[in-house]
Amino acid sequence: MLNTLPSKLPDVGSTIFTEMSALALECRAINLGQGFPDYPPPDALIRAVSEAMAQGHNQYAPMAGLLQLREAIASKVQSQHGHAYSVESEITVTAGATEALMSSLLALTHPGDEVLLIDPAYDLYAPSIRLAGAEAVRVPMRPPRKDDPAFRIDWNRVEAAMTPRTRMLVLNFPHNPTGLTLKPEDLDALEALIDRHPVLLLSDEAYEHIVFDGCAHLSPVSRPLLAEHTVLVSSFGKTFHATGWKTGYCCAPAHVTREIRKVHQFTVFSVSTPMQAGIARYLRESDTLSDLSGFYQKKRDRLATGLKETRLRPLHSEGTFFLLVDTAALGTGLEKELAVRLTREVGVASIPVSAFYADPARPEANHQLLRLCFAKLDATLDQALERLRGLN
Ligand SMILES: Cc1ncc(COP(=O)(O)O)c(C=O)c1O
Repeated sequence: MLNTLPSKLPDVGSTIFTEMSALALECRAINLGQGFPDYPPPDALIRAVSEAMAQGHNQYAPMAGLLQLREAIASKVQSQHGHAYSVESEITVTAGATEALMSSLLALTHPGDEVLLIDPAYDLYAPSIRLAGAEAVRVPMRPPRKDDPAFRIDWNRVEAAMTPRTRMLVLNFPHNPTGLTLKPEDLDALEALIDRHPVLLLSDEAYEHIVFDGCAHLSPVSRPLLAEHTVLVSSFGKTFHATGWKTGYCCAPAHVTREIRKVHQFTVFSVSTPMQAGIARYLRESDTLSDLSGFYQKKRDRLATGLKETRLRPLHSEGTFFLLVDTAALGTGLEKELAVRLTREVGVASIPVSAFYADPARPEANHQLLRLCFAKLDATLDQALERLRGLN
């Protein structure tokens, strides 16, 4: 009986992240593949959460999230993007960005709908779209070239992929894995596109507070027309070095939030109460959000500068805690083989960018690029660089 159980996700196995982490462990490699910090959340935040527990914040939170956290999110988003969300009807606290994305896709897409993804794309989107019964349509970014070593989005190509069945476009900026951020001209292009094709935008902004070189994070919700169509998703995990706390949120117009909450209430109902109380207090009392980009920019620069003494060429990262390296000097081959070789030969684990495409084995998915995570202690980064200098 069990042998004949039909799978809803027949081609989903363990992810490349699990695979590379297992290999890193086996080879005692430094793991720059896994996308999480090897340092703790701020002391004051840990204290705020512990005190919330001691003060009795231990029973179910309201389904939409603790009021004080929704208020803190509303004021944060308003000061960042100038858009006012209603605390009652437009903000929902979720179990990480993951649950916000899954609940949104399940609530807002239907069998027969198409959802546009821009490749390379974070690995959660396509299976979630499939579980919703919809179909992922993938539009590639233009890969880095010698004369312009960066990924670029061609909005004309995105528009050309739209059909009457297109329900949603998934955006993820700052972008994992390329580190791209949105510029004013991208928002202009999106406005023109939404004007012609009024689809929903699912905007995964998990790295919203990590943008470099003095740039601000531009969200689609900073433009009124786009805000009407957008589900803004974010995560406190990346912002507070607390990925294991799985606390995030989504903001969307009331009629959209109503549908998302219908799924949210039967998926998790509500999110860990002491985490919410602690985060709300921390957001009210501290001002560390503004320091985060500077903190990560130093790490990006440390890694990028050190890489110049290796055979790997760093690409520029505008945001997130990732940068890509060009491995062309190491010869050809699938990116996954290169990642395995790097782990085995010098003991540094990475993630092949091809893992962010529908079929990682296809030539279109392989650009000789690996993703390195610099959310690591300086000593960890230095040790990895030392090993990478020994690469032949
Ligand atoms: C682009 C992107 N979205 C969402 C997530 C998941 O966020 P969370 O841990 O809050 O569920 C991640 C985590 O790596 C991510 O990189």
